[in-house]
Amino acid sequence: MEKEIYHPPVLLKESIELLKAKDARIFVDATLGGGGHTEAILEANPENRVIAIDRDEEAIERAMKRLERFGDRISIYHANFSQIGEVLEAEGIKEVNGVLFDLGVSHFHLRGNRGFTVWEEQPLDMRMDRRQKLTARDVVNKLSEKELADIIFKYGEEKFARKIAREIVRRRKIKPIETTLELAKIVEEVIPKKLWAGRKKHPAIKTFQAIRIFVNREFQEIEEGIPEAANHVACSGRIVVITFHSLEDRLVKNIFRNLEGFKVITKKPVEPTEEEIKKNPASRSAKLRAIERVCE
Ligand SMILES: C[S@@+](CC[C@H](N)C(=O)[O-])C[C@H]1O[C@@H](n2cnc3c(N)ncnc32)[C@H](O)[C@@H]1O
Repeated sequence: MEKEIYHPPVLLKESIELLKAKDARIFVDATLGGGGHTEAILEANPENRVIAIDRDEEAIERAMKRLERFGDRISIYHANFSQIGEVLEAEGIKEVNGVLFDLGVSHFHLRGNRGFTVWEEQPLDMRMDRRQKLTARDVVNKLSEKELADIIFKYGEEKFARKIAREIVRRRKIKPIETTLELAKIVEEVIPKKLWAGRKKHPAIKTFQAIRIFVNREFQEIEEGIPEAANHVACSGRIVVITFHSLEDRLVKNIFRNLEGFKVITKKPVEPTEEEIKKNPASRSAKLRAIERVCE
């Protein structure tokens, strides 16, 4: 039988320690993905329970198989993590001891035929939840030039945003933009070659990131999901968040700062060791921040 390849969990040891998962308790994994963090939480103490959430049905199916052996110690929900309150209500649980958010896309999104990658020819999709109607193809082909420019600038911090948007609009009048490589090529043609030639980072990465964030309402989800989780964290319970780019990290830092009744555990964000980055280069931009509910 072919061996299943999983998304390598990032900052795993650090997350488990900061969640205090060795003590028997109830946890929420708000971003189940391949199930690596959940598995480690369940292994940390035989009495731990995990309520896991993911908006991607394929991820859930795969993780279910991996986690079968834990029986009713795990409950899995196909939902957005902004719905964490409803999920806990369905479970009949008021408070949990730890919540983990491991944000961003998984290995499966990048490897699957889902339109997240700049490197391979795929349909322009980028939906994490395939029940959703809006795709990257709609965004690229239907939004106005100004809307596109604003999205690429705001969520990609791309200084060529205006030029990229103008070129997208010019090209889509000739023919709709249908695939990842068509979009990547347009961006490549707009950004001066001397700024990217010979580098490992593709010039369209920022544009792809921006469109992905918009399609999946990623920042709105974070803005709603973390405070909603905070409402259900017990005394001494923790929220641990792993981010993968500076915009996301800044957003989380600000949300943490404004949450009442919590103290920050990580004065500086925890980053992966050289060894982890060597084993899993995708972890290189990860930053972990944690807060703890102060007991009254
Ligand atoms: C980086 S992966 C998580 C990997 C996981 N920790 C592991 O060890 O395999 C992020 C996952 O979160 C899911 N996700 C992202 N945003 C979400 C949201 N707002 N609500 C629910 N799931 C979300 C994605 O579908 C993806 O499967």
